Amino acid sequence: MKVLIATEKPFAPIAIRQISQIIEAAGFQLSTLENYTDPSQLVAAVADADALIVRSDLVNSAVLDGAKKLKIVVRAGAGYDNLDLVACTAYNVIAMNTPGQNSNAVAELVFELILYQIRGGFSGKTGTELRLKTIGLHGFGNVGKYVADIAKGFGMDIYAYDPFVSERVMKNYGAKQVTRLDELYRMCQFISLHLPFNDITKKSVGYDLLKYMPQNAVLVNTARKEVIDEEGLLRVFGERSDFCYLSDVEPASKALFEEKFKGRYIFTSKKMGAQTEEANINAGAAAARQVVNYFKTGNEKYRLNK
Ligand code: 3PG
Repeated sequence: MKVLIATEKPFAPIAIRQISQIIEAAGFQLSTLENYTDPSQLVAAVADADALIVRSDLVNSAVLDGAKKLKIVVRAGAGYDNLDLVACTAYNVIAMNTPGQNSNAVAELVFELILYQIRGGFSGKTGTELRLKTIGLHGFGNVGKYVADIAKGFGMDIYAYDPFVSERVMKNYGAKQVTRLDELYRMCQFISLHLPFNDITKKSVGYDLLKYMPQNAVLVNTARKEVIDEEGLLRVFGERSDFCYLSDVEPASKALFEEKFKGRYIFTSKKMGAQTEEANINAGAAAARQVVNYFKTGNEKYRLNK
């Protein structure tokens, strides 16, 4: 049984060692395709693979078409907008993700971005503090819960909006439930986005929400750049000089921000929310275990295409 790890953005070596131990202990063979620059390299590498483990790598019909032996693809991470689930089903390939494994790493990045920004990029300029400030969590899944936990340590006032999570669960994490999204944006100086990217959430955060944010607003996006309506965000930036945007990955309109809004944004050049050794070990090993369990026992937990 051949398991291919294909990662444009590789796992840390320590994670690869743990993944290979799991794969080899099961009697399977591991091969890796790292830092590849063209999708055709993935198409070639997956040709004789029985299982595929990826990160944000695109798995579409072009990839699946040449993968004649492929039974399972596991996205080592939570967001699976890079997997074409309809195509996976059409090619009889089981698709899974590994929810929760990257969550703490992403939540820590939220505060790393915020702290750097509100202390003026450690320039010596007078900054501000987080204690008693309001933070709104737009989405209260695995990452949102970790963010609430950390925000509690900072003494922040925490609010959350998520139609799929109960008030009781939010309360357990020290967050107060807000049932109207515009209310969340009105109440909170800091908003942190923790929603998946799909047809419903695409461009769902725009001018009509952002305009409500209070003075010295900070929008933090460690979800996906596509959930932002960049036109609306740019409009708010143009109207308000107190508004900041901190994003894990550059927006499409990065050049405009650079030209007009210096000092009011941070954009990571490569998505790095899950880029810690711990998250790589957690997500990579979970993916490897899911592959092994599927072949050994037929376990389909975390299957996405039912
Ligand atoms: C996730 O959805 O788990 C994160 O966005 C991680 O993405 P990455 O594997 O590309 O770092």
